[in-house]
Amino acid sequence: MNIAAVDYDGLIPNNVALGQDVRVKRALEKWHPGYLNWWNDMGPEGFQESLVYLRTAVSVDPKGWAKFDYVRMPEYRWGVLLAPQMEGRKVNFGTHKGEPAWQDVPGEYRAMLRRLVVIQGDTEPASVEQQRHLGKTAPSLYDMRNLFQVNVEEGRHLWAMVYLLQKYFGTDGREEAEALLQRRSGDPDTPRMLGAFNEKTPDWLSFFMFTYFTDRDGKMQLEALAQSGFDPLSRTCRFMLTEEAHHMFVGETGVTRVVQRTCEAMKEAGITDPNEIEKVRKLGVIDLPTIQKKANLHFSLTLDLFGNEISTNAANAFHAGLKGRYREDRLKDDHQLESGTYPVLRLIDGKIQNEDSPALSALNMRLRDDYVVDCNAGVGRWNKVISDLGIPFEIKLPHVAFHRHIGEFSNIKADVSGHLISDEQWKKHRGDFLPTDGDKDFIESLMQPQMETGRFASWIAPPKVGIDNKPGDFEYVKLA
Ligand SMILES: [Fe+2]
Ligand SMILES: [Fe+2]
Repeated sequence: MNIAAVDYDGLIPNNVALGQDVRVKRALEKWHPGYLNWWNDMGPEGFQESLVYLRTAVSVDPKGWAKFDYVRMPEYRWGVLLAPQMEGRKVNFGTHKGEPAWQDVPGEYRAMLRRLVVIQGDTEPASVEQQRHLGKTAPSLYDMRNLFQVNVEEGRHLWAMVYLLQKYFGTDGREEAEALLQRRSGDPDTPRMLGAFNEKTPDWLSFFMFTYFTDRDGKMQLEALAQSGFDPLSRTCRFMLTEEAHHMFVGETGVTRVVQRTCEAMKEAGITDPNEIEKVRKLGVIDLPTIQKKANLHFSLTLDLFGNEISTNAANAFHAGLKGRYREDRLKDDHQLESGTYPVLRLIDGKIQNEDSPALSALNMRLRDDYVVDCNAGVGRWNKVISDLGIPFEIKLPHVAFHRHIGEFSNIKADVSGHLISDEQWKKHRGDFLPTDGDKDFIESLMQPQMETGRFASWIAPPKVGIDNKPGDFEYVKLA
């Protein structure tokens, strides 16, 4: 591996020798003002002038790739950074397995590849749009800083995808890059491409659930694309994964701190029954059953992002060597999947049951299964906090058939345990499974900003450690 130096002198920091690539450099410089307009219109509302203690990628060396400093967000150095090229890398799955990895777009796969890049690219600005109002209700400056860190990095991920479009896809790529700045999360006329990215992120518990569950879908997709035989896509996704880890950290520790504060407050007040919701809420914390409902919502919305369980698109992308399985390079099989089956959970004769399907068609299902395993690890850590504080409650992920809008279970109603129920029962019990208007109002009532250095809102515990080895009472954001 050779680690290319990052050029920090031009408008666009990069390690792809933009200085010698006049056409692409010009295209990106032309796209840049539109990006800044988008950021100013749709980025964090009310804090564009504040100095935020942010990390910026300055290298792709895993040993030290970021530097921390105060920066106004519109002045953030969004750059194009690809993980180091691996000498002699090969396509490692599909029909081209064993051929040298492509440094250019294979003509026959151009449309498919462009679509993969655009779909990934569209999610990046979408989440910034969804989260733009949250700064105003931040439970602390520490949390506010983490929100903004996630936001600027999603902005950089957009740059990463736009670089690929501008460099490798000619006029079509340029048009797609423009369109990425035009769509808007939740807009009825020009929505973002995927459902979960058009939902609202109305409060901070939603934000933590989103970064835990939905950014983790991002991780799974990036891991699958990092396997791509199209080497520039692989390299850019590998570096994005470095940043993505922090987003999921924000989600996992955010929920942990909410859960911890609730259990501590219950203990102090001598409440042992987690279902005494009104009593718990009077303590100014979020009751555990409501946290469970939020998890049900965000988990089920995110499952939809994996698409149909049985998918020809997914089969084609794998066969072509463009999108692999989760950590394809660590799997032990023929990496071609021309034969072999995979169990897919389906609705057969009115019952939810596994059916062996051709492995190639079942790749979405497989990635979703890997995702669920990954999700469960953190949920176990939340439950450890609850049990350590002596509260009899366990957060559980709902059944994959619960509350679905895409795939096998989109036309049925199931409860959180995966029992099929009638529309009538669904209507009756919906509020037991998903946040009600009353739950939302209560959470909203807690969203009082806490902008004093080192202070935290009533409903969330301080973090165990700060960012960049700074203490909890560090001034993470200097408000303008
Ligand atoms: Fe991202
Ligand atoms: Fe992310």
